[in-house]
Amino acid sequence: MLEQLNQIKSETLERLKNAETESNLEEIYASTFGKNGTLTQIMRGMAKLTKEERAEFGKTANVVKQELEGSFAECTLRIREKEQQRRFEEEAVDVTEPGKRSVPMGHIHPLTKVYREIRDALVGMGFTTFDGPEVEYDDYNFTMLNLPLDHPARDMQDTFYINDKVLLRTHTSPCEIRALKTLKPPFRLAIPGRVFRVDEADATHSPVFMQLEGLVIDRNVNFSDMMGTISTFVKAVFGDDVKTRFRPSYFPFTEPSAEVDMSCTICGGKGCRVCKGTGWIEIMGCGVTNPHEIANCGYDPNEWNAFAFGVGVDRVASLKYGITDIRLQYENDARFLKQF
Ligand code: DAH
Repeated sequence: MLEQLNQIKSETLERLKNAETESNLEEIYASTFGKNGTLTQIMRGMAKLTKEERAEFGKTANVVKQELEGSFAECTLRIREKEQQRRFEEEAVDVTEPGKRSVPMGHIHPLTKVYREIRDALVGMGFTTFDGPEVEYDDYNFTMLNLPLDHPARDMQDTFYINDKVLLRTHTSPCEIRALKTLKPPFRLAIPGRVFRVDEADATHSPVFMQLEGLVIDRNVNFSDMMGTISTFVKAVFGDDVKTRFRPSYFPFTEPSAEVDMSCTICGGKGCRVCKGTGWIEIMGCGVTNPHEIANCGYDPNEWNAFAFGVGVDRVASLKYGITDIRLQYENDARFLKQF
């Protein structure tokens, strides 16, 4: 039996030496120490021995068992390290290798670009920015701005109503009311934002578009301050050669009111399809704030006066970049946007 034991030991050690994988090891372990394993069986055979023989054999068998277990542990470690090494080599990444393809760069939306240019020019003249909600009270969007109840702009066809009192703002002018109610004059504000009107989308209309409202309130501002402010930021965006012209107009919230045209940048003022042959393109409305609006917000119109303007940011972007379809500015097609 001792001989048999020695044979089991040397055979097992030999198999362990040749083992390559953890599953090889598991097999060897089962066939040695398992229920029907060689070592288990020979230990079972001890029952047939005499008491002395059993004591003697038992000692030796225990030593062999311990030796083999030790070898198993070593062998497991060796195989695991080898496996780890193999994976390190196989999955190695050479961080010094150049990338396969460059990551596409993002682009700034033309509306954002133009907005930032206008804003920066205004900030240079002492303006700060202000913000108002897109979902607005009818009261702020119309009534407080001196829009009488029967004004055509209140027509259900132009305005997205949410209920009797709440709507999607049709212009950024309600932010004037919010500013006047929350800030302490004098101040100069640039207020950008999305506005909404019920409109079928086509090359020149979109149910959502972007405006920038300007509001200057002080003790002594007038129409010519407004003209200077407006032509300064238009020049900042389009260069010194661009011309602006102020046409008398009507807005309930300003008196006097004007519409601002700039010389057409597409044809340089000669007349083209975009400016409909006139050489001029309308980009904003403006005026001296109606005393009713100032009084509505709790200020004495004899002490305070103000001027305001509302510029169509997408109009300006169209002119600056020669975009002939307004929808492109709101669809976010990457093929369009990546040109900027
Ligand atoms: N809110 C006007 C519009 O959407 C534009 C406008 C005109 C704004 C005159 C003003 C202004 O602040 O003074 O058409």
